This record gives sequence, structure tokens and C-alpha cells, in this order.
Amino acid sequence: MNPSYAIVAAQSRNHVIGRGSDIPWQVKGEQALFKKITQGGCLVMGRKTFESIGRPLPGRLTLIVTRQQGYRHDGCEVFNSISAAMTFAASTDRPIFVVGGGELYGAMINDAQCVHLTTVEIEVSGDVYFPEFPRRQFDLIETEHFESNINYTYQRYVNRDQELLCHTKTV
Ligand SMILES: NC(=O)c1ccc[n+]([C@@H]2O[C@H](COP(=O)([O-])OP(=O)(O)OC[C@H]3O[C@@H](n4cnc5c(N)ncnc54)[C@H](OP(=O)(O)O)[C@@H]3O)[C@@H](O)[C@H]2O)c1
Repeated sequence: MNPSYAIVAAQSRNHVIGRGSDIPWQVKGEQALFKKITQGGCLVMGRKTFESIGRPLPGRLTLIVTRQQGYRHDGCEVFNSISAAMTFAASTDRPIFVVGGGELYGAMINDAQCVHLTTVEIEVSGDVYFPEFPRRQFDLIETEHFESNINYTYQRYVNRDQELLCHTKTV
């Protein structure tokens, strides 16, 4: 059984999260929000997301999931299954954040305890999408609007089927 974890994602209005290996927008402040939410935690990410970031993020543990044997990167832990990554993450006693990309979100969203979802107020083309998630199963407990070069809205959902261990946003 997986330990408690949160999903952290940013999507456009039309649910795009990525185009190729990139995120197709630059929004001032949104990265700082991601940092505040995830600071001190374990970041679990797919290999493609890791390669788009290119380095471990400071102040957090970076856990990469890949099916490739022998994949390594300095400063990161690598696992050949999501469950192996989650077992290791649980052993660290840090809050666990699944931070993408589309394949990881799709596999992990239904059983997340919490979803930190930022919606950037644009419509963009892309080829990676945030998955549908069962809104009936999640309660929206926080909404905050931010004005920036592109405005964005942060929302926090908690899964009412799961024990409420949602890491609180600290801004
Ligand atoms: N907007 C956002 O918040 C946000 C956040 C993160 C990422 N993104 C974007 O999302 C895109 C990447 O997402 P993606 O869906 O293409 O890829 P991804 O989820 O980042 O990574 C997929 C890779 O993870 C590994 N993997 C996935 N499931 C696995 C499993 N069950 N067991 C073992 N390994 C597994 C595989 O790696 P191998 O191929 O090495 O086996 C797979 O190819 C990029 O555009 C990125 O910029 C956006």
C-alpha cells in the first residue's frame, strides 16, 4: 500500500501540462509557489520530467522513476517502479509530492490524499495533459487567485476517501 502523498501540478485552462519536454508558459511567481509547497519534501517524478528539469531541486529529495536498468543521476535516487519509489519516500519521513509528468499523474491521481492544482489562465497547444480526476471523491478546500504576467489560480483538493494528511500550503 502506498504512503500518503500529494500531487502538485500546473495546467492551462484546457488542461495542457506539457509540450514536448517543456511547459509551454512562463508565469512569474508560479515556480515560487511550487517551491513553497514542496520545500523539504520528497519529489517523485517520471524520467521525462526529470530530464526536462535536468537537475535535483535544492532543499528536496529527487526520486526518479524509470523502466531503464542502470539509469543514474548524481544527487537523485532512481527506481524501476512507482511502488519502490514510494516505499523509499515513506522511509524518509518527509512529505511526498508526485510532481509529474502526465504518465505519473495518471497512475497516481486517484489515490492521492491531496491535489495542489494551479490553473494558468491561458489556452495553449500541447501534447501532455493533466488527467481527469474524480471530483466527487475530492473536496475543494482552498482557492487563491494570483495576478501576474499571466494570471493563475491555485486550488487545493483533499481526497475524502483518504486519511486527511494533506500538506498545507505555506503561503
Ligand atoms: N505543468 C506541470 O505541472 C508539469 C509537471 C511535470 C511535468 N510536466 C511536463 O510533462 C511532460 C512529461 O510528462 P510525460 O507524461 O511525457 O512523462 P513523465 O511522466 O515525466 O515520465 C514518463 C517516464 O517515467 C517512467 N515511468 C512512468 N511510469 C513508470 C512506471 N510505472 N514504472 C517505471 N517507470 C515509469 C518511464 O521512463 P523510461 O522511459 O525512462 O522508462 C516513462 O517514460 C513534459 O512536457 C513536462 O514538461 C508538466
